[in-house]
Amino acid sequence: MTVSPAAGPVSASALMTPAARVGDSLAQVDTPSLLLDLDRFEENLRGMQVLAERHGVALRPHAKAHRCPEVALRQIALGAAGICCQKVSEAACFVEAGIHDIHISNEIVGPAKLAMLARLARHARLTVCVDHMTALQDLSQALVEYDATIGILVEIDIGQKRCGVQSIQEAVKLGKAAQRLPGVRFTGIQAYHGGIQHKASHDQRRQASEAAAKRTARFVAAFDRAGLQCDVVTGGGTGTVMFDVASGVYTEIQPGSYAFMDGDYGRLQWGDVLTFAHSLFLLGTVMSTPTPKRAVVDIGLKSTTAESGLPVPAGLPSVQCTGLHDEHLLLLAQEESQRPALGSRVRVIPGHCDPTFNLHDTLVVLRNEQVEALWPITARGYSW
Ligand SMILES: Cc1ncc(COP(=O)(O)O)c(C=O)c1O
Repeated sequence: MTVSPAAGPVSASALMTPAARVGDSLAQVDTPSLLLDLDRFEENLRGMQVLAERHGVALRPHAKAHRCPEVALRQIALGAAGICCQKVSEAACFVEAGIHDIHISNEIVGPAKLAMLARLARHARLTVCVDHMTALQDLSQALVEYDATIGILVEIDIGQKRCGVQSIQEAVKLGKAAQRLPGVRFTGIQAYHGGIQHKASHDQRRQASEAAAKRTARFVAAFDRAGLQCDVVTGGGTGTVMFDVASGVYTEIQPGSYAFMDGDYGRLQWGDVLTFAHSLFLLGTVMSTPTPKRAVVDIGLKSTTAESGLPVPAGLPSVQCTGLHDEHLLLLAQEESQRPALGSRVRVIPGHCDPTFNLHDTLVVLRNEQVEALWPITARGYSW
């Protein structure tokens, strides 16, 4: 029998069943989906907020980790000073969502981006990193054109070997220019060291954080001698914040991943100072069981990434992830009896939360295994 197609156009969305609806049980959520365990997430947010407040340091969580305004709004409701973004278009999505205090923790170069930044500065209190005189002059000019102002944080390289000025002299020169130029005002320093965030041992991270804080303190003192007051000294990520807050150098910390705890952070040794729980999972379905110990799940590189390690199966201690292809995740069980069955559903912890969020439109928010909300990942794909 042949079936002739119905006449006229058809919309794809009319043919699709939504992957999740508010009120669905976890069993009804289609796969692959990005899940947030709300209880664990809220506990993580509270833990970091308490840590910052106990040390009198502002918490400005990094929104690059999730690109989801609903997450940021909850962090701010608990007391966060604002958020960090890495990209101007990303920040615009958060401004639209009603977040008006944003630090762009990155260098912004090029006329189109500077114009976008200047326009954004008319709607929000912004600070931005600068590490070059020409970039600062171009920024000042763009802001004057749009009659806007922005705070300048001179970024210093405290060992990451990424962006940031290399010497105290260079830093002070930039700070003085920021004091002088129109449209910009000198606000302080960014001293972020990403290279030390994932050192495995607690002691290694403590030593590295202390060394980074010492280097930062030398810059702050030099600014002070030059008559430049650093109102803000910002830095720190999930791996080192517990040491950064106690350094007496940072006025602000900017961790992002702590809210979710990906597989990469889960591998670290944490000590008893601070613990965060995995709150972010990918839900997948076993679509093939080609050998007695192998199960293949419908999660692939289009749902998560592997540059910081493969996803980690949750609640399946005898099952290991052995590969991630475009549309397939490979699981290997130690024993045949432990292999997840065809059609069963598995949860895995993504290796790296930031790029994983960027691959999804929606975060499926669960409480007690029921969908409580669907949060749009509004700024996904906004990388310019
Ligand atoms: C400038 C900056 N600040 C803060 C963070 C947050 O780090 P994490 O997600 O590890 O807490 C990052 C992450 O790469 C970063 O690049």
